[in-house]
Amino acid sequence: MRKSSSKRRLLTVFLGQLIVFLTVTSIVTVALMVYGVVEKRAHGDVGTISAVMLLVTVFLSTLFTLADIIRRKKTVDDPVEKILIATEKMAKGDFSIRLKPRHSYGNYDSYDLIVDNMNMLANELQKSEVLKTDFISNVSHEIKTPLAIIRNYVALMNDSSLDEETRTGYAQTVIDATKRLTNLISDILKLSKLENNELSIEYTSFFLDAQLEECILQFESIIEKKELEIDAELDPVSIISSPSYLEIIWNNLISNAIKFTEKGGRIGILVKKTEKGALVEISDTGCGISKDVGEHIFDKFYQGDTSHSGEGNGLGLALVKKVIDTLGGKISVSSEQGKGSTFTVLLNSSKDGL
Ligand SMILES: Nc1ncnc2c1ncn2[C@@H]1O[C@H](COP(=O)(O)OP(=O)(O)OP(=O)(O)O)[C@@H](O)[C@H]1O
Ligand SMILES: [Mg+2]
Repeated sequence: MRKSSSKRRLLTVFLGQLIVFLTVTSIVTVALMVYGVVEKRAHGDVGTISAVMLLVTVFLSTLFTLADIIRRKKTVDDPVEKILIATEKMAKGDFSIRLKPRHSYGNYDSYDLIVDNMNMLANELQKSEVLKTDFISNVSHEIKTPLAIIRNYVALMNDSSLDEETRTGYAQTVIDATKRLTNLISDILKLSKLENNELSIEYTSFFLDAQLEECILQFESIIEKKELEIDAELDPVSIISSPSYLEIIWNNLISNAIKFTEKGGRIGILVKKTEKGALVEISDTGCGISKDVGEHIFDKFYQGDTSHSGEGNGLGLALVKKVIDTLGGKISVSSEQGKGSTFTVLLNSSKDGL
């Protein structure tokens, strides 16, 4: 595209020069012809010849200048004016502006290419503007709920007639809400650092099965409370990777499996070595994920329960995906509504030192 456009540009320059050359030649030729005719009729009267020649030259030069003004307006001034108006609007934050190329795709000249690039730039800026406002409104919404809980319960705790048990209950609610706020802020910070490549990855050699075992232990009390059966098949798999990054993945996937599985359900955790790398599967017999929900689960702030009334902020899987992209690997989901879900993570063997 760029190559053919530079050819076109050369051709345009050549045609421009040819027009100037032909115009100057025509002026000189016409002037010489007029001179021949006038000289014959004026019988050597120098004054008359000079006056007529001056008139002819002025007339032809005016014609040439007018033609050049029109050419310049059409090929330079008008396009530059359009680009100027568009860039001024974009500079003021209006990214809805789109310019029309003058030629069909494939016959683009330099102006069309600039217009095409500007339209793409406006598109990208418009998209990131939408993402930014969505992000701000999501964060504000997620912060508002725990803050309202804290304010209401602290106000209630002010009542001196409260018995100790009720006060302790209120205090626990406040503690839970602050935990939710802390988790939200820490997830947002981690995500933004990952997105801006600000987190340094420290690779070390360790056993993945041991790490998964430790992660399961962290959820021991909730597993017992929900009477969940844990089915762990942990082959010894040694990898070279970042333990702190991987922990983010396992904690989120295990916490989701627990959260979305009813009391008495089963959680399966499997780790094994494959030709392509280390494979970890976390499955559950929970509510499952519908096709529509499945399309968005890795989006920031997305929750299947759109009322956002339950636990969490919908940042867990967005973080998981970002970590896997950073470390090099793949995540896939298979699920049947009402029967359960399986999240499969494959860590690239190139980086995991298998
Ligand atoms: N194991 C699972 N079973 C059923 N649905 C799931 C499962 N894992 C994720 N989901 C769906 O994907 C959504 C997004 O998951 P994600 O982990 O990003 O958010 P969350 O768990 O709701 O909140 P957070 O992770 O911030 O605590 C969930 O709200 C849920 O609808
Ligand atoms: Mg989650």
